[in-house]
Amino acid sequence: MAEKIEFHDRMLSLGLARVSEAAALASAELVGRGDEKAADQAAVNAMRNQLNLLDIRGTVVIGEGERDEAPMLYIGEEVGNGKGPEVDIALDPLEGTTLTAKDMPNALTVIAMAPRGTLLHAPDVYMDKLAVGPGYPDDVVSLDMSPSERVTALARARGCAAADITVCVLERPRHEDMIAELRATGAAIRLITDGDVAGVIHCAEADITGIDMYMGSGGAPEGVLAASALKCMGGQMWGRLLFRNDDERGRADKAGITDLDRIYARDDMVTSHVIFSASGVTDGSIVSGIKRTPTHLTIETVLMRSKTGSVRRMIYRNPRK
Ligand code: FBP
Repeated sequence: MAEKIEFHDRMLSLGLARVSEAAALASAELVGRGDEKAADQAAVNAMRNQLNLLDIRGTVVIGEGERDEAPMLYIGEEVGNGKGPEVDIALDPLEGTTLTAKDMPNALTVIAMAPRGTLLHAPDVYMDKLAVGPGYPDDVVSLDMSPSERVTALARARGCAAADITVCVLERPRHEDMIAELRATGAAIRLITDGDVAGVIHCAEADITGIDMYMGSGGAPEGVLAASALKCMGGQMWGRLLFRNDDERGRADKAGITDLDRIYARDDMVTSHVIFSASGVTDGSIVSGIKRTPTHLTIETVLMRSKTGSVRRMIYRNPRK
């Protein structure tokens, strides 16, 4: 049996930052070029190469898809050089492929790492998500409340009017009723076209981003990544998997999920300490996007550890090849 090596989150964190940086660096020349696939592929290749240099025995639990759908960074792929602790990896080499191709805000490269068996193996289905930042009483809002009840509850907890609450929502036809109900409360709505990992993280820095609450459905894998970030930054999040057909229910079965109606709180999705790194591809409120000069590329990364609640922002400048 392999020796159990402790998860030294502090030592591994800088390595993790290098992984998200490498993915951003690789997608630099593809920002605003209209080619989502090429941008994603460049980020995937770079993330995988860098990940395989780390002293870990890693398993991808949130990745690019099932093995038969994704040749690289597929769910279950073993990564790292095999010399360190056993860890779970959740990643999205390019969160916001369309945002990147169109040079729109908040495209990120994202990765989280935690001890083996502690990240939810979320199937590739939708998740109904709800998040607020730190400083509120536990369960101040819930997935069982209606959208308007959530606004009222959050406004009461903050001691402000509903009109002072800003809710971030993915702009999708499936959210039209929710948006109408939110508008009727007087709350402001920040509509985003993609990138709900960033959408959720925005709640953790409401004073900077102006976003108090995130709600709506998006990818379940992105839900686990967002929960990892909120666990480091503070804030509450809940998610419930949504299934549209038997194929999707089969994906849950494969991932070992039996209670299909379960509501996962943040710490049910991430059951131990986690480290999280995201690098900016396009400009956003969390980190700046890639800057290109004739001689250099500059990448900003936000690196966090839940054990300490530390959030570090780093600027990486690299000569252009
Ligand atoms: P990609 O980067 O894979 O394109 O995902 C972007 C994204 O907006 C996610 O942030 C979000 O969870 C999901 O797509 C929403 O899915 P859909 O576009 O089907 O509503």
